[in-house]
Amino acid sequence: MLVSSLLAKKRDGHPLTAEEIRFLVEGFCAGRVADYQMSALAMAICVRGMDARETATLTRAMWKSGISLPRPAADRATGEPPGADGVLRVDKHSTGGLGDKISLVLAPLLAACGGHVPMISGRGLGLTGGTLDKLESIPGFRTNLTQAELNDALRQAGVFIAGATEQIAPADRQLYALRDVTGTVESIPLITASILSKKLAANLDALVIDVKTGGGAFMKTENEATDLAESLVRVGCQCGLPTRAVLSDMDQPLGQAVGNAIEVNEAIEVLRGGLGVTRELTIELGAELLMTTGQCSTRREAQRRLAEAIDDGSAMERFERMVRAQGGALSFPIELAAATVVEAPTSGQIAACDCQAIGEAIVEMGGGRKRKEDSIDHSVGIRVHGRIGERIEKGQPMLTIHCPKARVADYLGPLRQAIRLSQEPVDCRPLVLKKIPSTS
Ligand code: URA
Repeated sequence: MLVSSLLAKKRDGHPLTAEEIRFLVEGFCAGRVADYQMSALAMAICVRGMDARETATLTRAMWKSGISLPRPAADRATGEPPGADGVLRVDKHSTGGLGDKISLVLAPLLAACGGHVPMISGRGLGLTGGTLDKLESIPGFRTNLTQAELNDALRQAGVFIAGATEQIAPADRQLYALRDVTGTVESIPLITASILSKKLAANLDALVIDVKTGGGAFMKTENEATDLAESLVRVGCQCGLPTRAVLSDMDQPLGQAVGNAIEVNEAIEVLRGGLGVTRELTIELGAELLMTTGQCSTRREAQRRLAEAIDDGSAMERFERMVRAQGGALSFPIELAAATVVEAPTSGQIAACDCQAIGEAIVEMGGGRKRKEDSIDHSVGIRVHGRIGERIEKGQPMLTIHCPKARVADYLGPLRQAIRLSQEPVDCRPLVLKKIPSTS
């Protein structure tokens, strides 16, 4: 097969066969297909798309470019039913959004409910933060674990949150690096294959995907988010991984805290029983998993079980075990940079929150990256004191900015504009917009 002919075939809008897709992915990993050829393929896929069969084949080829995390003795590979080794393996993926700290709460919570949660996670690039960066706010916390350390952490804590090792879906790591610099990230088949290849390598029994939509998300419209969610569910199920998706609102940050250490602090507050949207969405997503695995037969029962595991302290205990297993030393609250309060200039209802402005301010303060090699200042962050539709009185705190005093003036102007108040009643979208069930 000639690589250039396959690129031309996709460029002209024809579907590639399974053999051709495997030839390209295997050739790329082995160095026979050059970076410029793979970049051209990514662009052709971006423009022409892939059908469901091609997307599933691409996902499998990228998954099989590396290893799958081993499971104890009896497992799916031996033909036993899921969980035959006594422990169900579950995970959640989020397409990313401002202030999204759900993984920090949900992963230990699922472990407290008896599952194993091998969560392979990523770093932040652009406006939405990365779970690994947030966890590295905890002194000593290591996210670059070896294969043996990942297995140990799972045994000790029932949960880890770490970066992909070199052996997990290497085709995705290499391809993502090219997509990132060639304008080819925004493609539903490529995103589907990228996300699922890593999740399939974790050898899971169930996966839930939180697809965010709105001003603070990757997918700005509900239609785009629905297309991505349906693709992820369809391909996950086709590859043998029972997958569901939830579409959730990202027109405003999730919870009050945005940043790194400040989000870890908020996640710990939720693990200690704090109420609010972070707890609400964590329980919604967890319930999808407990129902998929059959641990609970109704949504109500699943929600009750998850709420109990937070309220009786067992989820927090799992979080502490995970931190210890990954080398961290937790002291709550983690210290933040100096606080500057921005007061409401007038009374009114919160009508809009400019996620772009808040995300950009965090990056400028040093809490996010402009380039991959940038280091992160974990101590900076922003607390947004109200949600859309809530009333706020003149002079009440609207935002708290954690940033060294000498630099805070640079951000005050744009951040004051980030919250729009209205005298009229304001409608706000529900937190959960839609659920996409597994396909058989
Ligand atoms: N996250 C991933 O892991 N891959 C993508 O392509 C986009 C988001």
